[in-house]
Amino acid sequence: MPKVRFLRERLEVEIADGQTILQAAKQIGAPEGDRCGGVCACSTCHVYVVKGFDQTSELEDEEFDILDKAFDVRPTSRLGCQ
Ligand code: FES
Repeated sequence: MPKVRFLRERLEVEIADGQTILQAAKQIGAPEGDRCGGVCACSTCHVYVVKGFDQTSELEDEEFDILDKAFDVRPTSRLGCQ
């Protein structure tokens, strides 16, 4: 089972395939923005994937468009809700 680590908070949780980083954060109480409720419309769930980026889902056009409005976007940026 894949694991998600929230480095700043030093929290870790195992997730099921298909589960989002935002869902993982909520599961263990890690702080992560979700102003739009996780429907890919706000970018407050912007995260940097430090390890395992190749294991994340493919970036879709809708996520790319919203991510484009986020601050300090990097090659490993993703929206936690996606
Ligand atoms: Fe709004 Fe992810 S929670 S884009």
